[in-house]
Amino acid sequence: MTLEELKNRIKEAADIVEVASRYTTLKKAGRYYRGLCPFHQEKTPSFYVDPEKKLYHCFGCGAGGDVIKLVMEMEGVSFMEALRSLARQYGIPFQWGKSSPSSGDLLFRITEDAMRLYQAELWRGGRGLSYIRERGIPEEVARELLLGYAPSGWDFLVKRLGDKYPLSELERAGLIIKKEGEGYYDRFRDRVIFPILTEYGRVVGFGARAISPQEQAKYINSPQTPIYKKGKTLYGLNWSKAFIRKEGKAVLVEGYMDFLSLYAKGIKNVVASLGTSLTQEQASLLSRFSEEVFLNYDSDEAGMRSAARAVPILFSAGLKVRVVRLDGAKDPDEFVEKFGPSSYIYKLEEAEKGVIFLFNYYSEKGKEIGVKIALEAIGNIPDPIARRYEVAELAYVSGIEEEILLSMIGGEAGQGLSSSGLSLTPMEEEALTLIARSPEAFLKLLSQEQRRVLSSTRLSYLLDAAERLARGEEPPEGEVKKRISRVLFEGREPHMEAGQIILNLVKYSVGLALKALQRRIKEAERVGDSEKLIELLKEKQRLIKMRG
Ligand code: UTP
Ligand code: MN
Repeated sequence: MTLEELKNRIKEAADIVEVASRYTTLKKAGRYYRGLCPFHQEKTPSFYVDPEKKLYHCFGCGAGGDVIKLVMEMEGVSFMEALRSLARQYGIPFQWGKSSPSSGDLLFRITEDAMRLYQAELWRGGRGLSYIRERGIPEEVARELLLGYAPSGWDFLVKRLGDKYPLSELERAGLIIKKEGEGYYDRFRDRVIFPILTEYGRVVGFGARAISPQEQAKYINSPQTPIYKKGKTLYGLNWSKAFIRKEGKAVLVEGYMDFLSLYAKGIKNVVASLGTSLTQEQASLLSRFSEEVFLNYDSDEAGMRSAARAVPILFSAGLKVRVVRLDGAKDPDEFVEKFGPSSYIYKLEEAEKGVIFLFNYYSEKGKEIGVKIALEAIGNIPDPIARRYEVAELAYVSGIEEEILLSMIGGEAGQGLSSSGLSLTPMEEEALTLIARSPEAFLKLLSQEQRRVLSSTRLSYLLDAAERLARGEEPPEGEVKKRISRVLFEGREPHMEAGQIILNLVKYSVGLALKALQRRIKEAERVGDSEKLIELLKEKQRLIKMRG
């Protein structure tokens, strides 16, 4: 096959709607799919994907091309890199010319063959099938999840695959193990097999549940291999990703059986992190499909600890987090078995916000620790507005004022916060509208003294934006800029008169400044710094006068 032929084969195999859906949400519109353009900011969708011609086009910004171009532009990679990544996703050997198949492909084929053999063993009947029936796993679910059975004995795979592939390659695939002396034996014996698939549906490894209660290891898993990277895989994602994307929410559980039971009972937006502690890669994989994660690890102390560790990791991937607490069952599998799916859905609805969970969990060691750890986790959230909301939650549960918490975050995370108030009060909306329309008027109406006060509060971003605009510069990147350009684009006017807006703003910021000042006064009183105290009290008088 030539490179050109390989390229065409990849274009043929790749589902452009699926690929584009990673970057934007698409809805069916006639024979096209339509969504907000991932290449430019817009509010009404003008980005179209044509599944038949396998092309995309944006009528807003003119971007367009085939699936390879889409990956190149969105991921910022070269043609060859885009090709390679699509080939991997859609299971096409990345080779052309007369080179031999790469060893990665061989491992995929071996794992696939092993899966088929295990499946056949299961459905022949016997211990595997009885186990599945005893556990109440519906047969259609067992088929959908490609479950299998590894028979007892030591050489099932060694014999069945040994003449088709070199034994050393079976070993590299993690399926057989070298004996001390000579020869190999099967890794999985007398176990129910759970194939682990990549997001795109290629089998890369297995989990295996012991049938005999005498077995000391309840589960054993494939080791890391060239095709199976544990920390980068989420069990079940290939089956659940469409449901997760549709709901924008995912339930994250620990085990194979937790996944299976929820999925079987119709809670299909679920994935399992498989016992190991959650990695950053798993979190960002999930964030491609979901906005919010319902963390549901086991109910015991170890499960709670893992949940507490997972929250900040999920936060850094930009995910919202809720933590589910189940009573009367040790894990989600047991819970839906005992109480049914509607009770489970009820538990999801009442799940605690991630920040509140962290605060409560660590506050057992003292409230300061709870606050500190929750704030650290909040600092991981990339979006300043989301961060701001979480601070509000923390203020609510801890009883500590928002302003104080904000000042405690400090550092870069705190910086972002000061320019994020935007979502928020109508007063800020009004001020920003005025600034967008006429930054000079905004600045002229503020006295030197008022500017000074404003710049000492979290509203300083307004002053900063106005000054930049007045100098003919761009507003700072991010939410402020978005808001300003929206005002200009929509030709929106402030509802109030400029003078009134300034008055409200000044009043409010003086209030904020007074609160902050009060804390410093208390501190000066506590340490007995009388010089400082006099200075602060004078400032207090000035502020009170300004408030009028
Ligand atoms: P659990 O011990 O909670 O298993 O381990 P489970 O899900 O309740 O299993 P059943 O219901 O008894 O069959 C949760 C996960 O931790 C990993 C597996 O991924 C398992 O699904 N694990 C557990 C192992 O890898 N090895 C073990 O020995 C135990
Ligand atoms: Mn469990």
